[in-house]
Amino acid sequence: MINIKQTSHLDSIGSFLAMEIFSRAKKLESLGHEIIHLEFGEPDFSAPEDALKSVLNSMKNNDAGYTFSRGLEGLRNEIVKKYSRDYGVEILPDQVLVSNGTSFLLYLSIRLLAPFGSEVIITDPCYACYENVIRLAGAVPVIVKLRQEDGFQLNVNELKKKLTKKTKAILINSPMNPTGVVFSNEVMMELAELDIPVISDEIYADLSFEEKPKSFLNFSQQTVAINGFSKYYAMTGWRLGYLISPKEWIFAADRLHQNLMISATEFVQEAGISVLQKSKDYCEKMKLEFDHRRIYILNLLKELGMDPGYKPTGAFYVMYKYKNNKKSSFDFCLEVLEKTGVAIAPGRDFGSGGEGYIRLSYAQSIANIERALKKLYESKLL
Ligand SMILES: Cc1ncc(COP(=O)(O)O)c(C=O)c1O
Repeated sequence: MINIKQTSHLDSIGSFLAMEIFSRAKKLESLGHEIIHLEFGEPDFSAPEDALKSVLNSMKNNDAGYTFSRGLEGLRNEIVKKYSRDYGVEILPDQVLVSNGTSFLLYLSIRLLAPFGSEVIITDPCYACYENVIRLAGAVPVIVKLRQEDGFQLNVNELKKKLTKKTKAILINSPMNPTGVVFSNEVMMELAELDIPVISDEIYADLSFEEKPKSFLNFSQQTVAINGFSKYYAMTGWRLGYLISPKEWIFAADRLHQNLMISATEFVQEAGISVLQKSKDYCEKMKLEFDHRRIYILNLLKELGMDPGYKPTGAFYVMYKYKNNKKSSFDFCLEVLEKTGVAIAPGRDFGSGGEGYIRLSYAQSIANIERALKKLYESKLL
């Protein structure tokens, strides 16, 4: 007999609340309502033309087989060049493993470093899936709060209090989803001094607007850096990401990858090579546009009396504390959607510390941002 209890061991794995807001928004759109979408972190630009040309060419050449599990040599070489050119970090192609998107590599890197029952430190708020992925990998998430009063910077002294014999890794993300904050060099140095492996989710590294993009590898070798093509390269659906690890750990990472994925899609890897070789100008133009939007949204929020109270300088997000703290952020976002037609992400998606906040994504045109903020302001809900 098929019984729903069969899957009850997964009951603690939550869904993305922003997805539920999105589903409701789609329903409203199908009923003829106009919706402005600020709930997702998905660039509203097309992937670089070089990616498309490369894929068409690869398909003609029938480049759609399995590849070496760690990825095409040409792509790993380009990633080595990128880390040297863009972050001043010297690595070897043998330290790189390519996969279908960074999401899977988050899981892989936790399995790699953290045995069952060990602890992995994360921040609260943090990217929605971290806590779930750590649990799925059989480890225990240990939480360090980030506070708006500290500009959402990580307080390493507080983190130190959470270290135990079971701590196997610290998972960070800078520039950060959902706050848009870039961790300072002091924070990175203090983290490196702890001498504990850091899994550094660097998917927004290139979207750092006020300081030179950096990798945690600038601070420590004891790092599994995870990066990908979804954000700066506007290639979300292409599913291409990679990790960089010390040589000592790459063999185990490779074994996991062989068993769980075999290899990343060959023609998408070919596109990754083209983009890394040829699309820097296009991506820098998108970055410039994101920075215009960041400045625009921060100025407009201030003008409307809705100052977020801290300075986001990376990725494409702003967290905002709404006044009606009796409502959960999910219920609040649903109400905002129904009353204004603006879709936003509930802060709860990003941990209990995100409760009472919403996340606005400015991966949207200035015209839409302006219309959305005016609607939010006029609704007097915020
Ligand atoms: C911090 C962070 N890491 C990872 C991802 C997932 O990236 P990918 O599309 O490469 O799986 C996202 C997507 O929003 C993200 O915000």
